[in-house]
Amino acid sequence: MDDSTHSPRIHIIWAHPRRDSLTGRVVNAISTEAQQLGMKIVELDLYRSGFDPVLEPEDEPDFTNPHKRYSDEVLELAGSLTGSDAAIIVFPVWWYSLPAMLKGYIDRVWNYGLLYGNGKRLPFSAIRWVALVGGGETRFVREHKDRYMEDLLNDGIAIYCGVENSTVTFLYNTLAYEEEADLSQHHQVLIEQARSVVRELNTGFSRNIERVGESAHA
Ligand SMILES: Cc1cc2nc3c(=O)[nH]c(=O)nc-3n(C[C@H](O)[C@H](O)[C@H](O)COP(=O)(O)O)c2cc1C
Repeated sequence: MDDSTHSPRIHIIWAHPRRDSLTGRVVNAISTEAQQLGMKIVELDLYRSGFDPVLEPEDEPDFTNPHKRYSDEVLELAGSLTGSDAAIIVFPVWWYSLPAMLKGYIDRVWNYGLLYGNGKRLPFSAIRWVALVGGGETRFVREHKDRYMEDLLNDGIAIYCGVENSTVTFLYNTLAYEEEADLSQHHQVLIEQARSVVRELNTGFSRNIERVGESAHA
């Protein structure tokens, strides 16, 4: 494939009980921005896809057997990641963590011998976590909740599954309890912040493509 004409493919994975939530609007903005930049989008809306986040015995990893065959659903979802250049994962922060739906997706699909372990890794090179935080930034940072979640998502999950290029963007104060913000205006600021995540990702891809071109002509 000629890398100079390759359109990056972005896998958006998200979890929220309501499609019309702020989280859903953030996903729409990310998807629109990416398409405007010429990226291809694959969207996995976990709630409305019928995904079951409960890990049953057939998808429990056998750490003595990296070749275990998992359920068809897991194999299909894992296979669908192939060909993507990056994942953008969007979710509301619930108890300083992931909603159970998203946690269950990672438990079941990013599975041992399939997407990590025994030489396996996630097939894409970058992950951007976009986390909507009900509370304000000041307290979140003062209590080191940002570092706690970055450690969990970047080190605990992304790097463990072979993706070094992983960052978390927190969209703070979604409930606007802390400051006297105009809620709809504040949400627009957060949506713009989410769009900038896509632009940053796209710039990184363009730089890589340039480097490929440069070395090819050196
Ligand atoms: C079960 C649950 C747990 C939550 N836990 C936190 C939390 O730990 N920290 C926080 O700042 N907000 C927390 N929130 C608030 C959500 O982050 C907030 O509702 C969300 O960011 C708003 O986006 P949405 O309108 O798309 O749901 C929680 C909300 C729910 C429903």
